[in-house]
Amino acid sequence: QTVDINLGQLEKGGYPHFMLKEIFEQPECITNCMRGRVNVNGDNVVLSAVIDYKQYLLNAKRFIIVACGTSWHAALIGKQMIEGFCRIPVEVEYASEFRYRNPVITKDDVVIAISQSGETADTLAAVKLARQHGAFIYGICNAIGSSIPRVTDTGSYIHVGPEIGVASTKAFTGQVTVLTMLALALAKEKETMSYECYRKIVKELHEIPGKMREVLKLNSWIADLSRTFTYARNFLYLGRGYSYPVALEGALKLKEISYIHAEGYPAAEMKHGPIALIDSDMPVVVIATHNGMYEKVLSNIQEVKARKGKVIALVTKGDDTISRIADEVIELPDTIECLEPLLATIPLQMLAYHIAVCKGKNVDQPRNLAKSVTVE
Ligand code: G6P
Repeated sequence: QTVDINLGQLEKGGYPHFMLKEIFEQPECITNCMRGRVNVNGDNVVLSAVIDYKQYLLNAKRFIIVACGTSWHAALIGKQMIEGFCRIPVEVEYASEFRYRNPVITKDDVVIAISQSGETADTLAAVKLARQHGAFIYGICNAIGSSIPRVTDTGSYIHVGPEIGVASTKAFTGQVTVLTMLALALAKEKETMSYECYRKIVKELHEIPGKMREVLKLNSWIADLSRTFTYARNFLYLGRGYSYPVALEGALKLKEISYIHAEGYPAAEMKHGPIALIDSDMPVVVIATHNGMYEKVLSNIQEVKARKGKVIALVTKGDDTISRIADEVIELPDTIECLEPLLATIPLQMLAYHIAVCKGKNVDQPRNLAKSVTVE
């Protein structure tokens, strides 16, 4: 018995929980994910799947991404990148809905299945259905040799190592990194992006692990901040563009491990419903980094403040406008808009983690949840 406990502690590498360990592993994981794919100069991306199956990928009329849970949130980010960089239409589907809807799938479609475990029953069934209809199947998985990679035509592993905490953390950033590399590699082949722009994004992607390390330094401050918010029964998370899926993911993390009800919303949709919920008891997490949507998100923050909501804003370092309005500000290093999710997700993982710890919850094994859902 004693030996077991010690081994358990050992596996956590000195961290109190696997979830915190996995949050802190992210810079290393992303480096591993890019190894052999982004060159050492940080100006070119090569994915073997794109080299080997170029004609299928470049001739596709449409991409359909199927996934569940956190992997589905990564898919939403992938959609924006593939559409934006490559001008290929992308649909994102919950695997559980897709498999039962009699969807239109043809041999001109590429279906991307995203799954950390590679074992999620709905995602596996969606892949099998797509295969029956003749689509080309691309897997983005973590667990090597798991069921989904075995039934796909090709794919890219995220290579972030085993993820033990039920709430997914490093797998999400790994999935987003692979999707970024895929979108870049395809854009280069399709010549839908200028070389200058391509190089700029690849170079910045190469810098992301270092910037993640900076974000991780916020941990003890976020732990302090979290104590203030354990009273809340509801949380709202808002973001736009690339930050909208980050808002969904932040809300999911909080729900999963702290059992506080949380909703992620596209910031502009707030006026169509959630604004009715805002009062002085309602913490609202807003991703308000310095990008194309900044001014609009700023006005969303003002709307929340006018109703006395408590704003926790994620801003770009040096922002002194939002820091004057928001109740709490979390500063992130500057990066390119499409890469912001890789940084902005981390403080939201830490916020959920610390709130759950403060509330005495079992963060690594939350009630009613399973790490991989292999049954319906
Ligand atoms: C479960 C896990 C989530 C995960 C989802 C999809 O709900 O608790 O963390 O995002 O399944 O899992 P997959 O292994 O397919 O990515």
